[in-house]
Amino acid sequence: MIVLGVETSCDDTAAAVLADGKLASSVVSSQDEVHGPYGGIVPELASRQHVANIMAVVQAALERAGTRVGDVEGIAVTCGPGLIGSLLVGLCAAKGIALTNRIPLVGVNHLEGHLLAIFLEHPVEFPYLALLVSGGHTSLYLAERLGCYRRIGATRDDAAGEAFDKAAKMLGLGFPGGRIIDQLAKRGDSSAIRFPRALVRGGKSDFSFSGLKTALREHLRRERGLGFDATAVVAGRALLREEDLTDVAASFQEAVVDMLVGPTVQAAATLGVPRVVVSGGVSANSRLRLRMVEEGERRGLEVHFPSPKFCTDNAAMIAYAGAQRLERNERDDLSLNAVASLPL
Ligand code: KG4
Ligand code: ZN
Repeated sequence: MIVLGVETSCDDTAAAVLADGKLASSVVSSQDEVHGPYGGIVPELASRQHVANIMAVVQAALERAGTRVGDVEGIAVTCGPGLIGSLLVGLCAAKGIALTNRIPLVGVNHLEGHLLAIFLEHPVEFPYLALLVSGGHTSLYLAERLGCYRRIGATRDDAAGEAFDKAAKMLGLGFPGGRIIDQLAKRGDSSAIRFPRALVRGGKSDFSFSGLKTALREHLRRERGLGFDATAVVAGRALLREEDLTDVAASFQEAVVDMLVGPTVQAAATLGVPRVVVSGGVSANSRLRLRMVEEGERRGLEVHFPSPKFCTDNAAMIAYAGAQRLERNERDDLSLNAVASLPL
């Protein structure tokens, strides 16, 4: 079965072709340059960029796969959660292609896409504990079988990726900040600054990152004498020496990683699940990957990460998740709608 995947839930315009379960193409058009100057995603600009890019991205995915639209046997499109304006662009494009070419359509939950991204590269046995860490989500799910996911815990405030992005903004770095902090941290001392690790009372599998963000702001104000009104933020980088910046990045990253690894391995032990799959944009973080693997080896836990290109948003994971449903003859009709807060 040839499946076209379409993903526009946030700021990446993506399309992919999956042929008989094998990835034939995956195209991602990033909007980082558009949102970079704002230090975060501007929803209205994201929708407009999707409108400008979507058909060219779909066309590129078909061409790279050596396929014509007439050969496509199913279309899988992200219908939530995400930015409503962004979601609607991909959804309307997918519906249009499905209607004019009489191709079956299926809506896919973006989070399920992330949870199944690992299968693009190799199979993993169920059940597994999934740590989903992205710009919008930080949650633990017990994946019992295909289509059956139980939420075990979630962030009480910011998502881990959001914490990285806000920290980068405070430090006057670019957007998205996770990747930049990851790179800077490689040259820094992670024990230079002892940032607090939040423990969520009564929620052993929950996360919290807003206190860490405040601690970073206070650290910069106190130790470096930086004032943090909105206009001073962009000056942060110029006011920090290179070695201070790398130490702050490494120490901040270490705190985020500690707060992700701890509850995850604890939940795996409590549930008696022998394997963990980490997914979402933050799972591209090199320190998180290393620490999870080390912790897995120590505790006899299998740990799986998708390749970085399948950690961040992409349509290959949507095509994969949709293909599973299309193969079971599940279909959505043209009344399929986008839902910003679609639960998994
Ligand atoms: O999954 P994703 O592409 O989009 C959402 O669904 O949110 O995740 C984007 C997030 C951003 O917050 C970005 O800073 C973060 O993933 N990210 C990273 C790294 N690469 C991307 N965070 C830490 N280290 C990285 N290497
Ligand atoms: Zn995502």
